Amino acid sequence: MALPVRTFDAVIVGGGGSGMRAALELARADLKVAVLSKVFPTRSHTVAAQGGVAASLGNIDEDNWHWHMYDTIKGSDYLGDQDAIEFMCRKANEVVYELEHFGMPFDRLAGGKIYQRPFGGHMREYGKSPVPRACAAADRTGHALLHTLYQANLKARTQFFVEWMALDLIRAQDGTVLGVTALEMETGEVMVLQAKATVFATGGAGRIFAASTNAFINTGDGLGMAARAGIPLQDLEFWQFHPTGVAGAGVLITEGVRGEGGYLLNKNGERFMERYAPNAKDLASRDVVSRAMATEIKEGRGAGKDGDCILLKLDHLGEEVISKRLPGIREIAKTFANVDPVKDPIPVVPTCHYQMGGIPTNYRGQVVVPANGNPETVVPGFYAAGECACVSVHGANRLGCNSLLDLLVFGKSAGETVIRDLRSEGKSHRSLPGDASDLALSRLARLDGQKSGERVADVGADMRRVMQLHCGVFRFPDLLTEGVRKIKEVAERAGRTEITDKSRTFNTARVEALELDNLVETAVASLVSADARKESRGSHDRADFHQRDDVNWMKHTLWYKQGSRLEYKPVHRKPLTVEPFEPKARVY
Ligand code: FUM
Repeated sequence: MALPVRTFDAVIVGGGGSGMRAALELARADLKVAVLSKVFPTRSHTVAAQGGVAASLGNIDEDNWHWHMYDTIKGSDYLGDQDAIEFMCRKANEVVYELEHFGMPFDRLAGGKIYQRPFGGHMREYGKSPVPRACAAADRTGHALLHTLYQANLKARTQFFVEWMALDLIRAQDGTVLGVTALEMETGEVMVLQAKATVFATGGAGRIFAASTNAFINTGDGLGMAARAGIPLQDLEFWQFHPTGVAGAGVLITEGVRGEGGYLLNKNGERFMERYAPNAKDLASRDVVSRAMATEIKEGRGAGKDGDCILLKLDHLGEEVISKRLPGIREIAKTFANVDPVKDPIPVVPTCHYQMGGIPTNYRGQVVVPANGNPETVVPGFYAAGECACVSVHGANRLGCNSLLDLLVFGKSAGETVIRDLRSEGKSHRSLPGDASDLALSRLARLDGQKSGERVADVGADMRRVMQLHCGVFRFPDLLTEGVRKIKEVAERAGRTEITDKSRTFNTARVEALELDNLVETAVASLVSADARKESRGSHDRADFHQRDDVNWMKHTLWYKQGSRLEYKPVHRKPLTVEPFEPKARVY
């Protein structure tokens, strides 16, 4: 069936921070840009980022990009690519000042400079003591950032396709990406969006876990589309558990609470992080803090009536500081934990928060895959930025407030690369292959034709249970192996789901079924990659291989959907201009 075709210079899939930063670059260069978003752009998940964006502005205490680079490499447990990390840390001040000039309402110091707070793992002088590096707009930094970028895009005349879901990539015979098929949710119409450049900015897939700080829209759509189009997914064994999700609800309580001086207590009122990280304490990196909390709970020192949470104490900061710097989390604590943190501690647990892996991408924003003996061959016409991309600046563990930085730096970088590529190649649109829409249409036809089968919600719930039990903060060999078997079963069931509502207009059941396809690709990739990695590194902590193994495992994983096959490629250990940071034991 021939679908209607609309033609653009660039199509950006995803209207969060990275998508809008890339779009801005392109629209300001007078390119014809379409941004597709499942939700109104200012409701994208970037809105949930709270504590700040990292940049070594040094507004409160001396700081520099090289210390930031060291912290990020150490935080990544030496799996991060050092060229990309140098690029990001050096660009940080520039992208934050740009944002300031777009109108971002940062909090201010008395003299007018941007307010900065300490964040986990961000230290001065190569690990000596915490440094205020997170540039903050109270505890609503992501919210302020999204609104700022949306307004800048309106000014630049970016065209938004709101409540549109991309379904599948369109690739030419030679692998070049030529756009996407997409569903307009309001009408149920499917269309081809043809483009000279396709940029994925689809965010993460944190909804594969049962306990997650992620929005319901975080279903790994970009990862699913890439995997189905034959592109491998990189390093998906590495999932970040944020130490402070509200117990039982999952909603994020920013690390900015600990940056402002809050701390964690076990049921005995002990400030236990002093035992696990004597120097950084509650401001150690997230994998370290989450493991310490899980250990306290496992060993019977958890708080709450079932002993299954930890207490985050901040009443000592006083009502004035809490209302000024942390107003959002006070509301969240009252709503979701029935606690006013001005008086009582908030019950928290480590909660899935961020996907360190994703679509393999270089620091210019180009998607890269192994081909013809080169592990990083550029896929023409295809770019990615933000959480869906694995650049890899976060390696095995991301530092807090480096995600907003990542989406600004690499959103902009992807935009710049697209402009350069389109100008240098003077590209015109290539004709679409005859089978351009076959994959998307066959997925829709299956859903329309399926007369019996399981409910999408039931299969999704089983996927989340498997991930939570088999691929959590601590990982055990038997559970991993059993998890691989179970998640492959879940993936098969996802191919047989039935939706009873076959209508076209705003059919959310159809959208959720399509999202499940993407979630299960990510979940299978995560468990298969985790089972195979026989070491502990960053967020991947195995009971049977307790140490990091740089000899055998300092390499990136690549998972291919076709055959659920794994390959590996080297870590970039050489920065762009400075000496490498050599791996060493990681202590805080
Ligand atoms: O804790 C937070 O505010 C989250 C920030 C981040 O994930 O970077």
